[in-house]
Amino acid sequence: MKRQRKAWGGRFAESTNRLVEEFTASIGFDRRLFRYDIEGSMAHCRMLARQRIISRADEKAILAGLKSILADMEAGHFRYSEECEDIHMAIEQALITRAGHAGGKLHTGRSRNDQVSLDVRMYLRDEAREILGCITGLQSVIMGLAEGHIDVIAPGYTHLQKAQPVSLAHYLLAWWEMLSRDAARLQECLTRINVMPLGAAALAGTGIPIDRTYTAKLLGFPAIAKNSMDAVSDRDFIIEFISDAAILMMHLSRLSEDIVIWASGEFGFIEIADAFTTGSSIMPQKKNPDVAELVRGKTGRVYGNLMALLTIMKGLPMTYNRDLQEDKEPLFDTVDTVKACLAVLSKMLAHTTFRADVLARAAEAGFTTATDMAEFLAGKGVPFRDAHRIVGAVVGYCVREKKDLKSLSLGEIRRFYRDAGEDIYACMDARRSVDMKVSAGGTSRRNVAARIREIARQKK
Ligand code: ARG
Repeated sequence: MKRQRKAWGGRFAESTNRLVEEFTASIGFDRRLFRYDIEGSMAHCRMLARQRIISRADEKAILAGLKSILADMEAGHFRYSEECEDIHMAIEQALITRAGHAGGKLHTGRSRNDQVSLDVRMYLRDEAREILGCITGLQSVIMGLAEGHIDVIAPGYTHLQKAQPVSLAHYLLAWWEMLSRDAARLQECLTRINVMPLGAAALAGTGIPIDRTYTAKLLGFPAIAKNSMDAVSDRDFIIEFISDAAILMMHLSRLSEDIVIWASGEFGFIEIADAFTTGSSIMPQKKNPDVAELVRGKTGRVYGNLMALLTIMKGLPMTYNRDLQEDKEPLFDTVDTVKACLAVLSKMLAHTTFRADVLARAAEAGFTTATDMAEFLAGKGVPFRDAHRIVGAVVGYCVREKKDLKSLSLGEIRRFYRDAGEDIYACMDARRSVDMKVSAGGTSRRNVAARIREIARQKK
């Protein structure tokens, strides 16, 4: 019977079963945290020395050892030994090999339970900041498109039925607004990610005179976790991050859906550059919007990751349980997916052209100015409900006669509204319809230009 060689092997008479070793290992995926684990350990070591818990000589040996491990890991030639179950053990074992006796002192006053939470929080605050940058990047592309398309008139839809004409820039800025809420949510989430758990130790804190505030300062955390039991069992910050990511992906998926529809032959509103589309292996004529489809599809995995985390957490007794190790893969997958989707969508949109002529024609067709006509009648003192009925009848007449509103003679209009004069034709123009929408947040070009200026001012 082989004795245990593990860091925690003291009380074991038997070595771990091979299957158990494989089953419990997280090294396959948590090695992505190595930089944060080492940075956290360096700060912990400095704090231990400052508190005179370890000697300055031990501090030096530990820091040198950690630095050499970091260099090897960064260069990709660190040899992960077979029995290290996670990144924390791998680094600590290597440290003990390299720094000897001193290396064994690093784990004073901490446990892997607070250590793993620290690592993930450091990782996630970096990634959340990077994702914020990616959101801003996509917003800039959208803003650029909006600035260039204020005068383009497009059909606005409800129920995917033509509704009313809008400025294309107004449509584009709607996505900008959604993304700004996504950014605000993530920013808010960052304040809860950015809390330092180290020193909670296993769950109860420690009798060793550590200084958690000093460690937090070294690692750039503005706050420390106030309760050691909460500190090691809390994964709210991950759930919150994935929730925010799920909402963001829902937005990207809806944008993608519009891109798919608008790129179709039937709509033909946009042309995506060849480099951002793919072909079919059988149909030579095809040019498909696969990027947008995949963003829509990948939204499902992020929702799945959110459900995974919520389900992992729901039955856990206080405090740390090994189930918590299952938090990492869904989190990493969410980070990777969100970053990839934001990057590729930004690039693709920057290489998409909007067909102003097709959009304008579509904006005119389908009686999109019927509401304007009803508002015109309301302006003449006709109660809006009556105006709605009158214009509805006019539209019904047009459908039967295969005419559009503009081609009606004054005589035909007067059959429905006796007092109609020449001035009624003005309200049937799509461009004019857009510019009439001067209510706050409405699509008039003046409003849209003002909103663009307001956003530019806020950025300064
Ligand atoms: N790999 C573990 C995780 O991801 C680290 C913490 C292990 N703690 C323990 N008591 N087994 O959660």
